[in-house]
Amino acid sequence: MSSQRKILVTSALPYANGDIHIGHLLEYVQTDIWVRFQKSRGHQCIYVCADDTHGTPVMLRAQKEGKTPEDFIKESHQAHEQDFADCLIGFDNFHSTHSPESKELTQGIYLKLKENGHISSKTINQLFDPEKEMFLPDRFVKGTCPKCGSEDQYGDNCDACGATYSPTELKNPKSAVSGATPILKESEHFFFDLKGFEGFLREWLGADGHVQSEVQNKMNEWLDDLRQWDISRDAPYFGWEIPGEKGKYFYVWLDAPIGYMASFKNLCDKRDDLNFDEFWGKDSDAEVYHFIGKDIIYFHTLFWPSVLDGAGYRTPSAVWAHGFVTVNGQKMSKSKGTFIKARTYLNHFRPEFLRYYYAAKLSNRIDDFDLNLEDFVQRVNSDLVGKLVNIASRCAGFITKQFDSNLSDSIIEPELIKQFTEASDELAQHYENRDFGRAVKHIMALADKANAYIANEEPWNLVKNDETKERAHQVCSLGINMFKILTAYLAPVLPELAGKVQDFLKLDSLKWASAQDVLTGHEINKFKPMMQRIDMKQVEAMIEDSKEDLEAEVKPEAQLDDPIKDEIQFGDFDKIDLRIAKIAKAEHVEGADKLLKLQLDLGNGVTKQVFAGIKAAYDPADLQGKLTVMVANLAPRKMKFGMSEGMVLAAGPGGKDLWILNPDEGAQPGMRVK
Ligand code: MSP
Ligand code: ZN
Repeated sequence: MSSQRKILVTSALPYANGDIHIGHLLEYVQTDIWVRFQKSRGHQCIYVCADDTHGTPVMLRAQKEGKTPEDFIKESHQAHEQDFADCLIGFDNFHSTHSPESKELTQGIYLKLKENGHISSKTINQLFDPEKEMFLPDRFVKGTCPKCGSEDQYGDNCDACGATYSPTELKNPKSAVSGATPILKESEHFFFDLKGFEGFLREWLGADGHVQSEVQNKMNEWLDDLRQWDISRDAPYFGWEIPGEKGKYFYVWLDAPIGYMASFKNLCDKRDDLNFDEFWGKDSDAEVYHFIGKDIIYFHTLFWPSVLDGAGYRTPSAVWAHGFVTVNGQKMSKSKGTFIKARTYLNHFRPEFLRYYYAAKLSNRIDDFDLNLEDFVQRVNSDLVGKLVNIASRCAGFITKQFDSNLSDSIIEPELIKQFTEASDELAQHYENRDFGRAVKHIMALADKANAYIANEEPWNLVKNDETKERAHQVCSLGINMFKILTAYLAPVLPELAGKVQDFLKLDSLKWASAQDVLTGHEINKFKPMMQRIDMKQVEAMIEDSKEDLEAEVKPEAQLDDPIKDEIQFGDFDKIDLRIAKIAKAEHVEGADKLLKLQLDLGNGVTKQVFAGIKAAYDPADLQGKLTVMVANLAPRKMKFGMSEGMVLAAGPGGKDLWILNPDEGAQPGMRVK
């Protein structure tokens, strides 16, 4: 085998404020298969990822859920990690952009860029929400499209006519956060000099292999129109503060790709055999690959290489983009139930079925990918169950029952098995090129050959006859060997199945190279069913579940006009000492037009004096002798007319419309309300 390569691989970092869905999974499955393939070839291949945690959407979402952003991203990190593990995505590290490594690297890279003259600042005008007191990202401004007049359009483009514009061009703009009309406000912003990297980018993008040819064409258009990149955002923002600039934060897309490095750095600190600089240093001889979706090509092929170059790091070996998942030929749709979360999928199917389907249809191009659900069922049944596993299930029983669980001592059809072992190089080439569809097709053609051979030999008949029984042994042993080789080739796609086959065949490992050794005179375990057929009913149930997910999401939250305050813990509530109090005395106060002075009796000779703003609503005579509820441990407050030593509880908007609380009959002064 060629010498060991050092490879670092990433998938795009999922946003912390969304669940993993089958669209994301195309990317993570594609990357994972490639990584498993490299590992199985004996290379050092490290796969890292992280949650993309910063930015306005996360900040607002956390607020809405009454959580700190830190708590919010911790929860989604756990959910993402579980989803990925259950989909057999084998990250070497799944970290977070809200980590010490990210902070240090981001600030360090910024300071390097600044030192090298790539950062400038200027004052710009931006829409500002005067109620929420924050600048509004384009997506948080809504209004009437300046081109076609459609209402309720986002600040960056119109869903109705497709026009793109700046949020200041929207007519009748409203903040999507508070509903307030935004105002224009000045602020100083910091810019990365992307324009200055035009020469570097032309060279980098022009060189062979850094990007796919389709991407290269797109890039050439963009290169003619490079601008300064605004990398700062004003507080309040969830992210990293810009060193030396108070109240200014790095735009999330600056720190997001640095998250790749941060995750790797975090892994280096946990493992002795990895050195950060060997992978990211200017003279690194390691390979670095980014798998991404086509929507984020711009960030990864223009900004990212320029930032790395400008800060003195190595640049990626390649950025590989894929297309978008459609379901049954259409965009994933929440209302159709085809916006399927990873968790929902997993509740109905094994992860390997989707992995196989994705692999079977993936190429290294960036066309969109159609997940046709009928085709999905059909392929799983015919290829995995009907062809692949079928080879073993037809042969294994005879080996166990008739031949003492031992494979034959020799191989009956050396020419046939050679076709299997010799496929290795070509298949490896397909995997290397991310042409998984080609690899799978070739593997399935071999599975057809294996099945045809067995069907033709009919070992179930051969075994009945003493003269032909040994031939049955040979045929079934060959079948098991063919099955083993095909499983080794498919192991990057089907790691769980490969594990089961390894146990079944009593092997120490099932790496790529093990496709080459043919098992003779080898003992195997009893065969257990490995995969079951699936049907459209399961698909329909999954679609129904997805629709229910949606209902749970879009049901507008019942909301009071005066919204409920942020959640508190019981401990917070318990700090308030509420008591039943008897209004011993109520009187007008000279010169006060809103207040009544109350003497509140708590029993045992304890009284408290309280000034209450209920003059418009109550006549003092009517209050005397009544029971009510008071806050007894409120810090006393000195008022114009004397000390107020607590508060009585009342409901209503105010003025005449105020009603004090009365306990039910039987409550006694001084009793605790809890
Ligand atoms: N957080 C950014 C990436 C930062 S990378 C430094 C982001 N997150 S995402 O959650 O929206 O998407 C993560 C990856 O999944 C992206 O590469 C994106 O293209 C991909 N996909 C998201 N939806 C997809 C489909 N429907 N189909 C295929 N890939 C999709 O972008
Ligand atoms: Zn429009």
